[in-house]
Amino acid sequence: MKPLRNTNSVPGEWYIDTACINCGASRHVAPGLIAERNDKSVFVRQPDTPDEQLAAWRAVLVCPTASVRSETKQPRPSAVIFPQQITSGVWRCGFNARSSFGAHSYFAARPDGNLLIDSPRYAAELVKWFDASGGIAHILLSHRDDVADADKYARQFGARVWIHREDSLAAPYATELLDDGSATSIAAGVRAIPMPGHTRGSVVYLLEDHVLFSGDSLAWSPREQDLVAFKDACWYSWTELTKSLGKLAASRFEWLLPGHGWLAHLPANEMNARLLALVARMGNG
Ligand SMILES: [Fe+2]
Repeated sequence: MKPLRNTNSVPGEWYIDTACINCGASRHVAPGLIAERNDKSVFVRQPDTPDEQLAAWRAVLVCPTASVRSETKQPRPSAVIFPQQITSGVWRCGFNARSSFGAHSYFAARPDGNLLIDSPRYAAELVKWFDASGGIAHILLSHRDDVADADKYARQFGARVWIHREDSLAAPYATELLDDGSATSIAAGVRAIPMPGHTRGSVVYLLEDHVLFSGDSLAWSPREQDLVAFKDACWYSWTELTKSLGKLAASRFEWLLPGHGWLAHLPANEMNARLLALVARMGNG
């Protein structure tokens, strides 16, 4: 049966259907237009300006269940919708996969080989864009949940695939297995930091002491206006996650780009202070 318009969506052209799995991805790319109501994403305002129309289209292309729709099948704008540039040399891929519960993935352009951090679903227009951007040298998997179609992108571009040994069953095609201990250098300016907690083999990737790709280990909450970790979605050990995040506080970064949850951009000192405060809160409860 075809999913229906969620009646919690405001009246008008754009809506989200009832097949929404509440991954939150559409809310992250269309804030102010899409919000959570009764455990699903809905339009709370219709797009008006060209920028808002573009945001609605981002929601269409990010949604892993194709639930973001327009009543009269609006024509797609000609502008590139995804990848979406986040900061210099870093893009959000879009085309989130249902198999990773709608987790975000990222592309980073690097002089000695581009990076794909976690994976989108396999999409011809992304392949074309990656190809035109110089291909993919390394696929950096944060943990077992968010591998999506990494195998297909690896094959397409001959990329090396990195994952922690403890989560490697999810990516038997991986070429490089990470172990516990200190950070591993992937390439110049790119480090893998083991982060047991969310899963046993979770890893975060740090780019130039500037951008942290955090997988499901750390995110921003607009409701809390603060950094958060996901206690209700902690599959291995909250105690270990607390320890891991405590060690992460030795690293510096300004951008926090998570798989699930909201991204953050803060001065490095503030990010560090908020991370230390989060670790203290986690340790207390
Ligand atoms: Fe996860």
